Amino acid sequence: QKPVTIQTLQKMYAEKSPITMLTAHNFPSALMAQEAGMDIILVGDSLAMVSLGMPDTSEVTLDEMIMAARAVSRAANRAFTTGDLPMGSYEISPEQALASAIRMVKEGRMQSVKLEGGMEMAPAIKKITTAGIPVCAHIGLTPQRQHALGGFRVQGNTLDKAMSLLKDAKAVEEAGAFAVVLECVPSDIAEEVTGALRIPTIGIGAGNKTSGQVLVQIDMLGVRPPDAFMPKFVKKYGSIWDAGLAAIRQYKEEVADRSYPGPQHVYKSDTKVTEALRA
Ligand code: KIV
Ligand code: NA
Repeated sequence: QKPVTIQTLQKMYAEKSPITMLTAHNFPSALMAQEAGMDIILVGDSLAMVSLGMPDTSEVTLDEMIMAARAVSRAANRAFTTGDLPMGSYEISPEQALASAIRMVKEGRMQSVKLEGGMEMAPAIKKITTAGIPVCAHIGLTPQRQHALGGFRVQGNTLDKAMSLLKDAKAVEEAGAFAVVLECVPSDIAEEVTGALRIPTIGIGAGNKTSGQVLVQIDMLGVRPPDAFMPKFVKKYGSIWDAGLAAIRQYKEEVADRSYPGPQHVYKSDTKVTEALRA
C-alpha cells in the first residue's frame, strides 16, 4: 500500500471519502493503527492524561511529546503522521511555534503538527506552513484551554459561539491549515462549518457530517478502567482492559500454582552438565 500523503488526503476530501484518524502514543499502538488502515496517526497530547496519568494536558512537555512521536514514527511508514504541539510550546509567538514545529519534525519525525486555537493562531499556522510543515488546526473544545472554557463541555452551541467557531475555521483555513479538528460541537454546527470550508474537518464529538473522524485509541479500545471518565462521544470498540486484566490474573494464578512456566517454556540442560554440577 502506498504511503498516505497530503495529496492522498486532499483526494479523499475531494471524493468525499471519510478520513480516518486515530491517536497512538507508542510503537505498538501505532503499528496497530496503521495495520488497521488508519489514514492519519495522531500523537495527541491526550498522551498526558491517558498514557502518563496526568490530570490534564497542560503538564506534558515538548520533549515528552517528541519521545512519543519518535516511537510512533518508527511504526508509521504508511499512515500520515501528525504530532500535537503541547501547551506552552507555540502560543508565545509564531517564531516559537515554528521552532517547536521544526523540532516535532526533525526530532519527533512527524510529517505535520497540530495545534489548538482559531483566529489568534492564524499567524503561527501561516509561519509554520510557509516553512513547509503542514499544520492541522484544532478548534471547538480545546483541552489545553480547559480552564478558560470552564471544563470539558460542548462548544459552539449558541449563535454567537457558532459564529465565532465558523470564523475560527475560516481563519485557520486561510492561514494554510491542511485540516481542522472540530472537537465537541453540535452535529448541525459541525456540518455547517464543514460545508463552509475547502479543507477537511476531522470530527471528535462533532457528529457524522465532518470530512473525517478521530478518536483516542486508548478510549476506543477500552484500555481504561471501567470507572474512568468517558465523554459521550466515545464509542468503545474494544475491551482491552477486561482482556488484559483476565490475562494478568491468570498469570498470577499460574505463577502461584507453578503451572507457569510449563515444559514448553523451559530450557533443558545437558544431563551430563547437571550431574557434574551436583557431584
Ligand atoms: O490529543 C488528542 O488526542 C487530540 C484528539 C482528541 C483530537 O487532540
Ligand atoms: Na490534543
